Amino acid sequence: MLRVSLGLTKKVVGYHELAGTLKYGGWAGGEIHVKNLRGQERQPLFSLRVLQMSVLMLQVQGVVKNYATPQGPLAVLAGVDLHLGERSSLALMGESGSGKSTLLHLVAGLDRVDGGSIRIGEQRLDQLNEGQLAHWRRTQIGLVFQQFNLIGSLRVEDNLAFQARLAGRFDPHWQAQLVERLGLGDLLRRYPEQLSGGQQQRVAVGRALASRPGLLLADEPTGNLDEATSDEVLQLLLDLLRDSPTSLLMVTHSPRLAARLDRQVVLHRGRVVPMDAR
Ligand SMILES: Nc1ncnc2c1ncn2[C@@H]1O[C@H](COP(=O)(O)OP(=O)(O)O)[C@@H](O)[C@H]1O
Ligand SMILES: [Mg+2]
Repeated sequence: MLRVSLGLTKKVVGYHELAGTLKYGGWAGGEIHVKNLRGQERQPLFSLRVLQMSVLMLQVQGVVKNYATPQGPLAVLAGVDLHLGERSSLALMGESGSGKSTLLHLVAGLDRVDGGSIRIGEQRLDQLNEGQLAHWRRTQIGLVFQQFNLIGSLRVEDNLAFQARLAGRFDPHWQAQLVERLGLGDLLRRYPEQLSGGQQQRVAVGRALASRPGLLLADEPTGNLDEATSDEVLQLLLDLLRDSPTSLLMVTHSPRLAARLDRQVVLHRGRVVPMDAR
């Protein structure tokens, strides 16, 4: 199903009823026309001004990943199943070395699976070539890492807009909202090295959300922050997600932070298991 947000009202319509160009994913603008159920596009029955639309939903099935090492192949993921609904959040926990970052990289399309499949919305990642994958990642995925990975030579305002501009999805109105809600108004002209860790991570969160991705992947996003700052950054992130069409998959070591997301799972011996099943 496709969820179409019209200002404050939400209307749910069948996916196949919608015309071709605006298939799915993150931010879209413009008119859509409604087809009849046999898929013929006649005179539009009516058209809608689409503000946001998203069916992005993550489905990881039987994913296997091995690394080649001097000692032979290292089996890291041995049949991972995972799903994440629209606009929901999932905490991924697990011991160091259990493969959490590996899984996030695969979901982000930064690496390829050795078996199984990853589907985001209607798109199977293994059906995209490298160029398509890079474009897809830029437009559909937000990434936040433990190392904030800001661009040192760019001011905060340009770091914030960086990915959205690359993706051709820069929206000054949304950017202004992000600045306000992340409390970055006084920091826009600074460079990353002039910011505290918490401030840097707030910029990284804003940068990842600026293109309104369908899926935000966060790998220990508060791992370099103290407890109070971690709480603050996560709360800002969760507040922002409430108002955007974005699902969150977050790796964390902290049961306290994990508990604030909708669901929690653990990666253990190459598989995903419920929190209490280890
Ligand atoms: N590129 C790589 N080549 C070989 N081994 C790797 C590579 N990346 C990760 N590993 C190994 O895979 C395992 C899982 O790593 P990782 O996904 O980073 O774990 P986590 O994020 O849960 O700490 C570790 O044993 C790690 O050493
Ligand atoms: Mg890791």
